[in-house]
Amino acid sequence: MRLDKYLADSGLFTRSEAGRAVRGGRVSVNSAVIRDPSVKIDEGTAVVSVDGQPIGYTKFRYIMLNKPTNTVSTTEDDPKSVMKLLPPEYSRMDMFPCGRLDIDTLGLLIITNDGQTAHKLLSPKRHCKKTYRFECLPLDEKMRSMLEGGIELSDFTSKPCSVKLSDATHGEITVTEGKYHQIKRMFHAVGSEITYLERIRFAGIDLDESLDRGDWRELTEAELKTLLENAK
Ligand code: URA
Repeated sequence: MRLDKYLADSGLFTRSEAGRAVRGGRVSVNSAVIRDPSVKIDEGTAVVSVDGQPIGYTKFRYIMLNKPTNTVSTTEDDPKSVMKLLPPEYSRMDMFPCGRLDIDTLGLLIITNDGQTAHKLLSPKRHCKKTYRFECLPLDEKMRSMLEGGIELSDFTSKPCSVKLSDATHGEITVTEGKYHQIKRMFHAVGSEITYLERIRFAGIDLDESLDRGDWRELTEAELKTLLENAK
């Protein structure tokens, strides 16, 4: 791989900034200063340093965001895009939200540039589990069990799911699909309404509740392992 591409992929620089850093003598490969951005390096073994600091090469990035309300899960140049909550270098790395949450839904959103894994996690065939904490208009046992059994909506019938109530208006729902406004529509169909929705688990990964709304961090190694296992 070309040295300037390696540097750009690391997220530290754009490709042209990488070129300037290399020509300016700031970059060394295996302890030797290299001034030609087109030099080919082995990304598996090379130790690349910028200003004397070794940097790692990671082809893909995986971020956990605690999505706040009034944000949209798109990469488009929308002032409300969740991507605006991340430093600009992540947009340069072609990161995108893995799935969608409604504008008023909060909580766990994975943002990555690993298109293949994201595609697999979102594939209806994989039955990847998503758990949401909700508040709703009162739900009785009959309505709860109707939700669990599957609801016939105008365009599809929801798959069986799990709904645990802590009282008549609070609980957790785990679904294996992600259709448009699915949970809100399911509750509406049984005579309730969702008044609060927060995703707390996705593909085996729990929302880190120490993250404030709008805050993000890279996935830990253990979380990434779980995510990739779920995408197999
Ligand atoms: N179901 C919904 O209705 N909204 C979401 O944001 C996610 C699931």
